[in-house]
Amino acid sequence: MIPLKSKEDLELLRASGKILAKVMRRLRESVGVGISTSEIDKLAEDLIRQENAEAAFKGYKGYPASICASVNEEVVHGIPSERKLKEGDIFSLDIGIIYQGYFSDAAITVGVGKINPGLKKLIEATKNALSEGIKQARPKNHLGDISYAIQNYAERHGFSVVRQFVGHGIGKALHEEPEIANFGLPHSGPVLKSGMVLAIEPMVNMGTWETEILENGWTAVTVDHLPSAHFEHTIAITDNGAEILTQ
Ligand code: MF3
Ligand code: CO
Repeated sequence: MIPLKSKEDLELLRASGKILAKVMRRLRESVGVGISTSEIDKLAEDLIRQENAEAAFKGYKGYPASICASVNEEVVHGIPSERKLKEGDIFSLDIGIIYQGYFSDAAITVGVGKINPGLKKLIEATKNALSEGIKQARPKNHLGDISYAIQNYAERHGFSVVRQFVGHGIGKALHEEPEIANFGLPHSGPVLKSGMVLAIEPMVNMGTWETEILENGWTAVTVDHLPSAHFEHTIAITDNGAEILTQ
């Protein structure tokens, strides 16, 4: 069963999303040539604490950091390290927080310095694929309408969607039902209802959709080592359509 949130739950989820959006804006500004991903992680930890919130990823199934920091061919779950970002990289930053027991989750991909036009297109297409998915998140639509809209947009623009990782329901836990694939068929799956809260998160690849996990047990990379982008928002389905909580 997909949990439905009460009005009171939604108020706190809005507050959680708002804090996450603020932290994300600050971290985005910190991204640039020469900063290491563990410096960004440290900054994230400080910013989250300043807001009386907690990092949702740290300790989750043993995950060792507050953010996921995935560079270039890394798809998701990159572990922050001393690696410094360099001109032309693309950097995916994924953050989850807990505020008064309520979880929100968001991700962005940004270019470091000047990036090539192909990478710009990949980032734009992934961001737009998320928007297309969010547009389908309204009462009486099916979950598959979200999945299909994301896949269709990404593939029409010449990219592929990752199969190994999916979006998810969210609220009182980081991962709630349902799983939200970034590929699928329209009019399939459960019917969407007002009160559902979802983290929709397309991961879009320049080359093949196939991914594998590195020896560290976390970092997912594309098998062809071509770049990948990731955008995520936590949204609430309301009678008027999707409300984006993390912007
Ligand atoms: N946004 C990702 C997810 O929902 C990030 C999880 S990182 C983890 O799965 F460390 F918490 F697993
Ligand atoms: Co997520």
